[in-house]
Formats: sequence, C-alpha cells, structure tokens
Amino acid sequence: KLVTVSVIKADIGSIAGHHKVHPDTMAAAARVLAEAKRKGLIIDYYVTHVGDDLELIMTHRKGVDNPDIHGLAWDAFKKAAEVAKELGLYAAGQDLLSDAFSGNVRGLGPGVAEMEFEERPSEPIVVFMADKTEPGAFNFPIFRIFADPFNTAGLVIDPKMHDGFKFEVLDLYEGKYVILNAPEEMYDLLALIGTPSRYVIKRVYRKRDDEIAAVVSSEKLNMIAGRYVGKDDPVAIVRAQSGFPAVGEILEPFSFPHLVAGWMRGSHWGPLMPVSLRDAKCTRFDGPPRIVALGFNVTRGRLIGPVDLFDDPAFDEARRLAQQIADYMRRHGPFMPHRLSPEDMEYTTMPQVLEKLKNRFVEAKDYTKAGQGRTQGETYE
Ligand code: F6R
Ligand code: MG
Ligand code: MG
Repeated sequence: KLVTVSVIKADIGSIAGHHKVHPDTMAAAARVLAEAKRKGLIIDYYVTHVGDDLELIMTHRKGVDNPDIHGLAWDAFKKAAEVAKELGLYAAGQDLLSDAFSGNVRGLGPGVAEMEFEERPSEPIVVFMADKTEPGAFNFPIFRIFADPFNTAGLVIDPKMHDGFKFEVLDLYEGKYVILNAPEEMYDLLALIGTPSRYVIKRVYRKRDDEIAAVVSSEKLNMIAGRYVGKDDPVAIVRAQSGFPAVGEILEPFSFPHLVAGWMRGSHWGPLMPVSLRDAKCTRFDGPPRIVALGFNVTRGRLIGPVDLFDDPAFDEARRLAQQIADYMRRHGPFMPHRLSPEDMEYTTMPQVLEKLKNRFVEAKDYTKAGQGRTQGETYE
C-alpha cells in the first residue's frame, strides 16, 4: 500500500519583519488540516515554521500532485493569511500569488516536496526546511549524502547502497531535467550542480531498484511572478536507514555551514546555519540562512515524531563556524562576493542608477573597450 508524504510551504506573513511566523497563523492552518484529517482526506499532519515560512507536513494515500491535497494546502494558507492580515502582520499573503486555485499549487507561490512510496516495516524520514535561501542550497548536502563516500560510509560498506544513486537535475531556466548516475557520472553531475542558481537536484533514486530516496522543492518564486516576491525558501524529504543513508549520514553535511544564496533581500551569500525549532527565526541581517531537520517515522501513514535533529550540541561547532563566516561575509558590506552577482539579485537599483548617470558617462579614449581587439575568453599573456 502506497503512502505519500507532502511537504508544502508558503510565506503568508510574519511578525515584526520577515523574521518569524505568528503562532495564530499556524493555528489557523492547523485547524484546516485537523478537519481534513477528521474527514479522512489526509492521514496525519504536522504544522510548523522556519523563519517566515509556514510549513505543512502531511501524509495521505492520494499520490503526488493531487488536486485535493494541493487544494487543502491552499485553503490552509488562505486561512492563515486571513489571520495574518487581521493581525497586520508583515507581508501578509506574500506567496499566495494568485486569487484562483486551479488544481495544483505549483507555479502559484508555495514550495512543494512530495514523494510516494511503499512503507517499509519501519520508515524513518528526515524533513528539511530552510529559510532565506533557494532550492539550489540543497545541491551540496544532497550530493554529499548520496554520492560522497567521505560523507556516507554506506556507499562503500552497505551492499544495498553500493551501486550508487541516480540524480534528477532540473535546469530552472529551460524547465528541463536530466538523470545522472553516481558514481559513474559524478563529474558531469558536479559540473551542473556547482551552479545552484540554475541547476538543482530535484529527486534522488536508489540505483539498484529505482526506489525514491529524496525530493527537493524547486520553485523559483522570483521567476514565477516575474518580479520579486520573496526568496523561494526550500524544503526537502529524505528517506533514511536500511539501504538508504543513515540519519547520521543525512545530517553530516550540515556540520559544514556552506555558503548559500539568499539572506538579506535575497541578494547575499551567507552560511547555512543548522538550528533547532527554537532558533528557527531570522534576525541577524535577516538571517543568517537557517535550516531545521525534523525526524519522523511514517507508520501506516501516521507521522510519529518529530524529533528536532539539530537541537543537539553536536552541531554547536557548525553554528559557531556559521557565526564566524557571517561576521567575515558581512564585513564586505555591499561588495561582491557577499552581494550576489547582478543576475541573481532580487532587489536592484542598477537600472535606475545607470539611467540617472547615463549622460555623465564619457568616452574613455585611452582604453580598448572590452571585446575590441581580443575575443572573449582569450587570456592576456
Ligand atoms: C529575504 C527577506 C528579507 C527581506 C528584507 C526587506 O528573503 O525576506 O531579507 O527581503 O527584510 O524586506 P522589505 O522589502 O519587505 O522591506
Ligand atoms: Mg522565508
Ligand atoms: Mg519571506
């Protein structure tokens, strides 16, 4: 019997800036899900938040991309947004980009990670939820979990994992995907996913039997709306143990707070700090980007848990390092590489500045214009 885990999230407004979801809005969403559980549409649910993102974790038997489940999430967000508006919360309803729901939340604003599978006798999963960053932030840790033997011992010593994993990589610009096998095509895989603003790991499958192992949300809100509407803070689901990476292998990459795009105004590089639910709020420079990991057992569709996996001194050093990196990056102020490159920024004054200065630029006769006299990519020797 198949079960589906759906994690659907949206920023429907936040208290005192883009910092933290208000508990009353979570309660409003939870009431909608409680009613759906009572009616039997979903088996179980857990409502939480990370920073300004409201997170709905649901289990059901309806498969991925189901209109009833997406419609339910949409209703829950709508109800939460109504409360946010009533309370005058900041950016109330931000990610609900359309007034008309038409069967699927994809492309509307909410982020979605869903997987359907046959429940094992014990089915441990980890749900990751991040704020102030983008889906590509998962490229680095998901690669390490499923393709790096220095992270995941099981790739070497567990016969069920020894064949490796298949990675579905999405090109966000073209709307196409490619499946790459690790370890054989590892260098091709890295060539793509090293550009996380464009190529994102969407799904991972175990090679020997094509079992789904992981799924990441891949909505790019800024592209959906054609204008800035908030960073597409991502979520992911990863299956654990007996033929999948152990929970400890799934958490291990987060002991290194790697640099991700997002943070203030979705326009800065900063360290991804692993935190407990207690610290799932974005303060310093609206960050730093944070990630929460909740562990569950899915048992006959029920969500047993959660356990708050980063609520642990074992991640204190990662947090400390993240603070040091935050200090170091912040000292660059408005300079790259703290600030993102122009094409990835979500706020910019560049067109206005250039327009204002356009008549003040004068021909620099002493210089060869870029592109003149040499072809692009040519070296100077
Ligand atoms: C980034 C984010 C915040 C806001 C910033 C400015 O994802 O949510 O860093 O971009 O607080 O917000 P506004 O323009 O709404 O004042
Ligand atoms: Mg957010
Ligand atoms: Mg936001």
